[in-house]
Amino acid sequence: MKSYELSMNTRTYFGDKCVEKAVKKEKNSIGARTLLITTGGVLKELGFVGELVSWLESEVFYYDQVTANPDVAEIRNAIKIGKEHRVHSVIGFGGGSAIDAAKAAAVGIVSDIDIEEYLIKGLTPPDDTLPIIAIPTTAGTGAELSKGAIISSREKKIKSGIRGEKVAPTVAIVDPTYTFKLPLTVTMETGFDVFAHAAESYCAVKADPFSEMLSEKSIKIVGEALPRLAKNLDDLEARKMMSFASHIMGYNVKNVGNCLPHRLQYPIGIATETSHGAGLIALYPAWIKYESTVNPTRVKQVLDWLGCEEGQPEERIRKWLDRMNIARNIEDLGKVPSIEDLTSMVSGNLNNDKLAGVDDIIVTLYKESM
Ligand SMILES: [Fe+2]
Repeated sequence: MKSYELSMNTRTYFGDKCVEKAVKKEKNSIGARTLLITTGGVLKELGFVGELVSWLESEVFYYDQVTANPDVAEIRNAIKIGKEHRVHSVIGFGGGSAIDAAKAAAVGIVSDIDIEEYLIKGLTPPDDTLPIIAIPTTAGTGAELSKGAIISSREKKIKSGIRGEKVAPTVAIVDPTYTFKLPLTVTMETGFDVFAHAAESYCAVKADPFSEMLSEKSIKIVGEALPRLAKNLDDLEARKMMSFASHIMGYNVKNVGNCLPHRLQYPIGIATETSHGAGLIALYPAWIKYESTVNPTRVKQVLDWLGCEEGQPEERIRKWLDRMNIARNIEDLGKVPSIEDLTSMVSGNLNNDKLAGVDDIIVTLYKESM
């Protein structure tokens, strides 16, 4: 059996309505002053932000202007607030973007180096990075456990991660009830991201017996719960199942990592300002097709667990996406730069995917996904 290393040092709270109790228990980690980073909007309207603030025993400062692909300019504004008020912690409350922005701000608040430098030069976050408390309100990213802050610089045309153990949240609080009101598109796209984490970490070079067990569980959950949600968004049990699958995939994102679709989605996300899940969906049929040439047994296993009909691998995933009513190509997402430009923007570790060794594979995947 393959040997592996596992880091599970984020204290985790999972369950319906668990946030009030969790933030009270974690008052020492949160400290006297905290910076609350959210995407604002709907979370405020639903009263979730006000409710969270009422439970916190700290003085709360806000940054609520985070967008879908958080930009360094937004992070700089959040850092400024954090520095001004000498906050002791940063809370990320929202989807993956809010949590990623919180992670990056926790680095920048204690550092004199501009946050863009961390992103571009791949600098390691300092040891005194502030405690990060992650409270996701979507079921998809697993950002509450992962050790990467995925942010972008629109000016420098890069979307990548600030990565290191210090960027993994100190505390993760997952309350599935926050996801109950998510609209259909967000539910399906973030849900697909859960599947993507499970499939890619299962096919990854770094996959290990522990991560494989979590991948199997998550793919089976997505295979059952996402079709149920496609038919009925009020299927609350399916919502809770997706929150759990998303959360446990945080361990795989952290300890194993992903394959090429995650590397190739980032340039699409920046160019089209579309969600992470939307770009992944566009890339998947081509990736499945080529991944099955280097990893046939694992790809078959993934598609079987998901509940795809029999057939050629690419056709199996296409039919499933059609059945979920989410199939699309890259060009459906908006105007994209040339394939050469997209390819030049791909960053991160490609070698966790066996497929990366195949000649011109990035160009091929982009081309076939257009
Ligand atoms: Fe993802």
